[in-house]
Amino acid sequence: MDKAAAQKRIEQLREELNHHNYKYYIENQPEISDQEFDLKMKELTDLESQFPEFADPGSPTMRVGSDLSEEFEQVQHKYPMLSLGNTYSEEELRDFHNRLVKLAGSNFSYVCELKYDGTSISLTYINGLLHRAVTRGDGSVGDDVTRNVRTIRSVPLKLHGDYPSEFEIRGEIFLPIEGFERLNREREKNGEPPFANPRNAAAGSLKLQSSALVAKRPLDCFLYYMLGDKLPTNSHYENLMKAKSWGLKISPHMKICQSIEEVFEFIRYWDAARHNLPFEIDGAVIKVDEISLQNQLGNTAKSPRWAIAYKFKAEQAQTRLLSVDFQVGRTGAVTPVANLEPVQLAGTVVKRASLHNADIISDLGLHINDMVTVEKGGEIIPKITGVILEQRLPQSEAVEFVKNCPACDSPLMRVEGEAAHYCPNSANCPPQIKGKLEHFISRRAMNIDGLGSETINLLFNQNLVKTISDLYRLRPSQLIHLDRLGEKSARNIINSIEESKLVPWPRVLYALGIRFVGETVAKKLAKAFTSVDQLASATEEELVAVDEIGEKIAESIIAFFKSESNKKLVDELKQFGLKLEGTEETTALSKKLEDKTLVISGTFSKYSRDELKQLIEAHGGKNATSVTGKTDFLVAGEKIGPSKLEKAKSLGITILTEEQFLGLIEK
Ligand code: IVH
Repeated sequence: MDKAAAQKRIEQLREELNHHNYKYYIENQPEISDQEFDLKMKELTDLESQFPEFADPGSPTMRVGSDLSEEFEQVQHKYPMLSLGNTYSEEELRDFHNRLVKLAGSNFSYVCELKYDGTSISLTYINGLLHRAVTRGDGSVGDDVTRNVRTIRSVPLKLHGDYPSEFEIRGEIFLPIEGFERLNREREKNGEPPFANPRNAAAGSLKLQSSALVAKRPLDCFLYYMLGDKLPTNSHYENLMKAKSWGLKISPHMKICQSIEEVFEFIRYWDAARHNLPFEIDGAVIKVDEISLQNQLGNTAKSPRWAIAYKFKAEQAQTRLLSVDFQVGRTGAVTPVANLEPVQLAGTVVKRASLHNADIISDLGLHINDMVTVEKGGEIIPKITGVILEQRLPQSEAVEFVKNCPACDSPLMRVEGEAAHYCPNSANCPPQIKGKLEHFISRRAMNIDGLGSETINLLFNQNLVKTISDLYRLRPSQLIHLDRLGEKSARNIINSIEESKLVPWPRVLYALGIRFVGETVAKKLAKAFTSVDQLASATEEELVAVDEIGEKIAESIIAFFKSESNKKLVDELKQFGLKLEGTEETTALSKKLEDKTLVISGTFSKYSRDELKQLIEAHGGKNATSVTGKTDFLVAGEKIGPSKLEKAKSLGITILTEEQFLGLIEK
């Protein structure tokens, strides 16, 4: 590769890796598998060492990814929290072994362990009590997540036996597969995006602000590395056995190996047997057992020289491509999905695979009835990674991307430089309308209880709701006669729609479902433009002046407000009284009331009722008008109606005075 080409590729890889780091560590929604990430990182590392003139201290090769977030106290690690060197090949593992033998002779043992696919944690115990739990962060500073880790049952709060007065023990917090699937089912029911894999679910859970919510997630933890000034023995394995006797959860899948051949045996066994485990692993970790030798070998800047991770390759299977479906999402993007002859892969039967976009189909050169290779990386949905050309049937037809929308037949469009095809008929294309409605009512958007995708489907098919504003025109009498809905659910839905008028401006903006305007972007925009009118009249220049808003987002916002149907929608929502304006101060002060539902009733001395409602929103809570089983607090002022008080008392709901409420949200 010549110099100019190398520079171009280096820049491209850095940009890609930064993007994937963000998706992985910050959003917990990775787009590529670990293996693909590692390959890109390796390519970049190689190029940077080949062309040192392009070195950059800001390159993704120079740091381990960070999972720091603003909401937790940050703590300096006493011992840096290193990562592990990794390999996918037996040959490289043999090189690692030969290097060690050269440095230390052959008189040492290995401990082989499983490589748990979760999120790493460092626990400190002082005088037998759990003192602190800290995430890896950037390796030298991590987030103090003690209050969340205390909810994990397999982490003992108190030890027994002959433990040292102070030590640290590190391990992995993970979500067993069954708990992960349950969590995703619940999230989908609530209109929240599912987690891509158990690892991201575990990392996301640990960073929740409410430890009560964390406690509901069936997190588990295996501990695999003890550190301290006075460790009980010179053997890593023996120390872990000691830790086990103090009540700590140590992996039962550890093995002492005296030779590299035994190490390979361990690896081969678990590569096949991993699918029978109730949790996910992505490889094995091989460590030198003798701590004196570990210390002698020391660490590089990123990882210890005495340990290495052997990562399992993503599992592959071969099967036949039967057909390709084209699905239309809420933004009009058309996604191709492959229907496959069912095949067993990594413990599950695979029938469908995502194909993402037209470029991927043409890069693969797919034909119907082709034998294809499917792979399951870190994600739940497998993908097609290759075609077995030798087995192509004569006269088989190439897969063509549809030209017209499969739902409404409008000719599809493709924006220059973008991979996706779009159906432009956003106002009339049924899956787009239903998708937009589902997004609008979802928990993180307008949070309209009682409405789910089934009811939306019903309302749409009965011609009762064709646009978002139709929701605010619904009357109980129209709902009662719908299938499966009784009077009580109908009333709940109407109440919940009414209550959504109090949802603050940033969330309403997110709920509108403008392409590329996710939650974070909506918050940024709502802060910069404090009303929908300001946003709608903003120029591209004004939009891109906002932190993190690029051309692509700006263009999408401008296009949204240009459309006549969207203008009409915004006008109607204004008339129905939705909050299409608001200042940042009234929108995000803390998360103290996150997931809490409060009812305000009566008259108050310090604040007006509306101000109190704004405070509730500002601290992450939800306002409701009537007391039900879902109410967490009733804030009772003077002249409160006796029936509300009675009801709250009979349901055992906490009743607060204005003072007590203010105490709750105070620092
Ligand atoms: S030992 C200095 N042992 O893998 C050595 N790590 O890619 C510290 N991991 O950050 C790590 N299972 O989160 C070790 N049995 C195991 C592990 C393990 C999973 C994770 C850990 C680490 C990452 C490195």
